[in-house]
Amino acid sequence: MNLTVRETRLPPLVFTLLAFISFVAILYSYDFPWAFTPFHHQQRFPALNDPPPSLVELKHKKSEKRKETTLPFAVGKTPKDFDIFSGRWVWNEEKQSTYEESECPYILPQLTCQEHGRPDKDYLFWHWQPHGCNLPKFNATLMLEALQGKRMLFVGDSLSRGQFISMVCLLHGMVPENGKSMKSSYDSLSVFKLKDYNATIEFYWAPLLLESNGDGVGNDNVTERIIRKSMDKHGKFWEGADVVVFGTYIWWMTSLKLKILKGSFTDEVQEFEILQTEDAYRMGIQSMLEWAERNMDPKKTRVFFTGMSPSHTRSIQWGGEPDGNCYNETTPIKDPEYSWALNSHESIMNIIDEEFSRTRVPISFLNITQLSSYRKDMHTQIYKQQWSPPTPEQLANPKSYADCVHWCLPGLQDTWNELLFAKIFYP
Ligand SMILES: *[C@@H]1O[C@H](CO)[C@@H](O)[C@H](O)[C@H]1NC(C)=O
Ligand SMILES: *[C@@H]1O[C@H](CO)[C@@H](O)[C@H](O)[C@H]1NC(C)=O
Ligand SMILES: *[C@@H]1O[C@H](CO)[C@@H](O)[C@H](O)[C@H]1NC(C)=O
Ligand SMILES: *[C@@H]1O[C@H](CO)[C@@H](O)[C@H](O)[C@H]1NC(C)=O
Ligand SMILES: *[C@@H]1O[C@H](CO)[C@@H](O)[C@H](O)[C@H]1NC(C)=O
Repeated sequence: MNLTVRETRLPPLVFTLLAFISFVAILYSYDFPWAFTPFHHQQRFPALNDPPPSLVELKHKKSEKRKETTLPFAVGKTPKDFDIFSGRWVWNEEKQSTYEESECPYILPQLTCQEHGRPDKDYLFWHWQPHGCNLPKFNATLMLEALQGKRMLFVGDSLSRGQFISMVCLLHGMVPENGKSMKSSYDSLSVFKLKDYNATIEFYWAPLLLESNGDGVGNDNVTERIIRKSMDKHGKFWEGADVVVFGTYIWWMTSLKLKILKGSFTDEVQEFEILQTEDAYRMGIQSMLEWAERNMDPKKTRVFFTGMSPSHTRSIQWGGEPDGNCYNETTPIKDPEYSWALNSHESIMNIIDEEFSRTRVPISFLNITQLSSYRKDMHTQIYKQQWSPPTPEQLANPKSYADCVHWCLPGLQDTWNELLFAKIFYP
């Protein structure tokens, strides 16, 4: 193959860093890319109560839209100045926040922490409490009735898949055994069917949303990401969905630059353009918004975007041991000022803000980054299916193979869906 690559020479430090990243990526990105690397850019720490101007703009635009139209699915309204994503985690030992792991047969073995020996259960007793107002209670009946004759679709990577499974788990208890089925068809589509409601809840695997070499089955271990600025291939499967929940983030973060394929993946001679990760990510978000604008009817359908899911790979960030990670963590971070996003992920947050404030698509942003960043205790750690048995060295040091990217189910992603529920019915 004749690769034409235009690339500036990398300084040696960056090169070493990249080599290290690739090494870690090969070590860990078996099915999931949890070889997480902090985003590389100049760290800037703005005052916490000093939002970038684009946010003010966004809020302004949103309230304008709200006046013009009632959104589909809405049954009520959230007061304009009430932010359900801003709040704190409250412990209630009387009441588990969600269903039992054993009650939901659809959870993948990557996420069944209790089954894989997680010794503590405290993480299930923390409830999200927004400041100054209460969240509407998740009402499965209302959700099922609203989905009558409709398709709800989650699109993204393994974190989106977790959110999809969580939604299925939150609803399936209301439906008799013969009224539901789960199957994976095509290459990338999982469909949960609710027969009596003529409804489906679906997940489509497209970890970068755009066409990429991570698409399909068995390609989720690629270490060098190659993307193509096209959603035609994937978009075919999304057309006709009534509620779409997009999410994409971590797959962009395994290198500082990405290869953009100019032709198609089947071309004999492939030509690439190299983009900085931020620019490539912006391109992805823009393409998603363009797709939604062309294919979603704002009078009948709703589009959501789940924000960055934080990881907890370095406990020093929350004042822990210098060499620790999320392993053995059993309580949330208490410091309300703790911000994973400010710890170097801010530029991606800003891209999301900027692009969403510019678009005419009425997209709802599930701003789960900050509330999730407190939950260092919610990751699957070592309590999950291992792709290969841990080596004696790993067993001697369990934190070396802990997954600090994905979340136990039941768990945090049920809260994401409670927030999604609030945004669908009480926008
Ligand atoms: C849940 O929604 C259904 C259908 O809209 C409604 O009849 C019921 O009263 C709701 N339950 C609660 C607890 O709000
Ligand atoms: C089921 O829903 C689809 C839309 O998803 C609709 O086209 C079809 O007519 C519905 N079928 C019945 C029997 O209601
Ligand atoms: C990815 O997995 C496939 C099959 O599971 C294997 O053939 C391929 O060599 C793997 N690639 C890498 C980079 O590990
Ligand atoms: C994790 O917790 C176990 C049991 O409490 C303890 O024996 C072990 O030393 C802890 N490991 C780390 C790395 O903190
Ligand atoms: C998302 O939440 C964070 C923290 O609460 C906040 O700083 C940011 O402005 C929010 N972003 C948007 C677009 O609302």
